[in-house]
Amino acid sequence: MRRAKISIIGAGNIGGTCAHWAAQKELGDIVLLDIPDREGVAKGKALDLFCCGPIENFDSRITGTGDYKDIEGSDVVVITAGLPRKPGMSRDDLVQVNAGIVRTVSENVKKYAPNAIVIVVSNPLDAMVYVAWKVTGFPAHRVMGQAGALDVARYKAFLAMELGVSVEDIQGLLLGGHGDDMVPLPRLTSVNGIPVQDLLPEERINACVERAKMGGGEIVKLMGTSAFYAPAAGTIDMVEAIVRDKKRVIPSAAFCENEFGVKAMNSGKGLFVGVPCVIGSKGVEKILTFKMNEAEARSMNESISHVKDLIAATIKLFPELA
Ligand code: NAI
Ligand code: 2OP
Repeated sequence: MRRAKISIIGAGNIGGTCAHWAAQKELGDIVLLDIPDREGVAKGKALDLFCCGPIENFDSRITGTGDYKDIEGSDVVVITAGLPRKPGMSRDDLVQVNAGIVRTVSENVKKYAPNAIVIVVSNPLDAMVYVAWKVTGFPAHRVMGQAGALDVARYKAFLAMELGVSVEDIQGLLLGGHGDDMVPLPRLTSVNGIPVQDLLPEERINACVERAKMGGGEIVKLMGTSAFYAPAAGTIDMVEAIVRDKKRVIPSAAFCENEFGVKAMNSGKGLFVGVPCVIGSKGVEKILTFKMNEAEARSMNESISHVKDLIAATIKLFPELA
């Protein structure tokens, strides 16, 4: 059986760590690509990681490159290329530089890996997924963004810490854009089925919600750059769902129209926003919808409205992406 081919664009902190998780899970052969100036970094990380195989017992081939020809035949392409944020910056401050980078990358993905499923990681996430979709022209189910997998993991991790239970026993969901107005849903959070609201007072749950929303910023302040372990782990969870056709339900930035009232909020047009997706070998195979209460719908609308403004700002800078 042919092994899956996974190409990761951007061999920086997230790209390198994605390659690490993907190799350790033996998800397929991996190509790590960076700009010509950083080709050595891509090659060096690939070789270093390949030499872990005899210790960790994986047989993935890992190639570093600066040449897009090497991504030919990819089943999945992960786009991590772009600047990370520095202390004091919001994700949205990155739009001008990163939209240009993601546009160039997407043109190459379209040319060299026309059948791939694309997972975008670069920030500001919701706008960068839109750029990748517009530029590649791929069907929307083959383009998605990683944010929810990370944001919900942070939410669950903080709750597990607060409750003193295993992270494995927290079930939770989170919607919306990858911004400070993401929408964690305590009503749908449980500890092995027991509603979290029966186990923790409201203010302690709210503290976990707020910490998850600001989790990215908390780490930027500590390290001087963006988080990468958990963002990469979330991304590879999505890659695994695709290459193993697992039909996992993972909150991801997917193209919504009627789901969650997106079209009504966005002048009749669809938009990429974080929603629960069934992810399998075809990409986003289904978006799961459910009835939100009034407060949840209000928060979701605010988040959608922020994503809408972010796309408008991107199009103002790059009118050809309209
Ligand atoms: P990094 O600076 O460590 O790596 C970025 C890499 O992209 C560098 O190696 C750089 O040379 C490369 N690159 C730049 N332009 C390129 C181009 N045109 N083609 C190919 N490669 C190019 O940054 P890091 O920490 O890996 O973050 C990457 C992106 O992911 C940032 O935009 C960051 O804000 C975003 N991010 C997204 C998260 C999410 O959950 N969606 C979470 C954390 C960060
Ligand atoms: C994060 O959430 C900054 O998007 C990045 O860590």
